[in-house]
Amino acid sequence: MEDKLVKLAPSILAADFARLGEQVTEAERAGADRIHVDIMDGHFVPNLSMGAPIVHSLRRITGLQLEIHMMISDPDFFLDEFVEAGSDSFLVHWEGNNNLHRTVQRIRALGKRAGVAINPATPAVVLEEILPDTDQVLVMTVNPGFGNQRFIHTTLPKIRGVAQMIEQLKPECELEVDGGIDEGTAPLAVAAGANVLVAGSAIFGADIGICAAMQQLRRAACREEQSMKR
Ligand code: DX5
Ligand code: ZN
Repeated sequence: MEDKLVKLAPSILAADFARLGEQVTEAERAGADRIHVDIMDGHFVPNLSMGAPIVHSLRRITGLQLEIHMMISDPDFFLDEFVEAGSDSFLVHWEGNNNLHRTVQRIRALGKRAGVAINPATPAVVLEEILPDTDQVLVMTVNPGFGNQRFIHTTLPKIRGVAQMIEQLKPECELEVDGGIDEGTAPLAVAAGANVLVAGSAIFGADIGICAAMQQLRRAACREEQSMKR
């Protein structure tokens, strides 16, 4: 994992939807590596967010990869629609999916990157069998459903465990974290082995502005990464 650079994935859940295009463009100019799009159905998680039309609109204004975090009960029903809208990758949850392998294979058959997400109370061991088929793993560091929640510190040993599992089974697989990531928690997640950081409120909700907030976050993450290499 040593030579992988930490990537930033701003989550538009915290954006001002009246100025979404503008804000995503600003994040892109500030060096965002991909854009994280949170899809919620009010059933899998107790909140509603957005659907494929948002992806379709974003596709026209950014060249960045659009990664779709599916917090919905039946992700399979919506994959085609999201692919047509211009999505590049999907993060699907282990929880509530009796046919996760099939979902992952369908994503790959559609020519997209596949990732598997696990909630804070879900142990890392459930990833073992599916890992060889995935391009990324997402460890939720808050309970999914809402932005601006506090980072759950007890997920750190799990991040470490997943990092080891990836190293053994599929070193090219990315390890992403999502929820409560800011300049204080980013170094902890990076030290535990995360190499993709999702951040919503720390980027789009920051008083200092999107560009400065991204620089601050990247600096905090990279500092930790550099010190790990020493
Ligand atoms: C939460 C979402 C996150 C959310 C993160 O269910 O999956 O992507 O936008 O927001 P922050 O960074 O504000 O915790
Ligand atoms: Zn998310």
